[in-house]
Amino acid sequence: MKKTVLVMHGPNLGLLGRRRPEIYGTLTLTRLDALVQKRAAELGLRAKFFQSNGEGELIDWLEKNAPAAHGLLINPAAYTHYSYALRDAVEACGLPAAEVHLTDIAKREPFRRISVIKPVCLRQFKGGGVKSYLEALDFLAKHIRRQQGETA
Ligand code: DQA
Repeated sequence: MKKTVLVMHGPNLGLLGRRRPEIYGTLTLTRLDALVQKRAAELGLRAKFFQSNGEGELIDWLEKNAPAAHGLLINPAAYTHYSYALRDAVEACGLPAAEVHLTDIAKREPFRRISVIKPVCLRQFKGGGVKSYLEALDFLAKHIRRQQGETA
């Protein structure tokens, strides 16, 4: 049976392609998800996608879907910088998690340099646009395979 990776996008990422294209690029979220889906298939994984502008919706979806999943790839968007509720949810779900950002948050406005999500993730991938998502997925696939080997 294929292992499942949850792919979550936080607020305003539904506007990708139209929102500040000079910063976030022209790729839409639908197109980005299709590229992640393709890479997941190549890696033998199933990807399940969700975008919401609401903190509670993101947490509810994670709580509901985590029990049947094996990894989490999350772009928490602006929640990155201040949502302790989302941070706790990522920690509580118990999944190996990778934090992703299209842009390099370390090189932008001071408020973006802080991630309260980072400490509950295995790694942070940032600054590469869609490449950051694909690298995070490769990383999670390796991690899941390694974990499987350990429990087999
Ligand atoms: C983002 C960076 C965040 O600071 C911002 O609020 C976003 C997108 C990124 O992918 O670069 O919405 O997470």
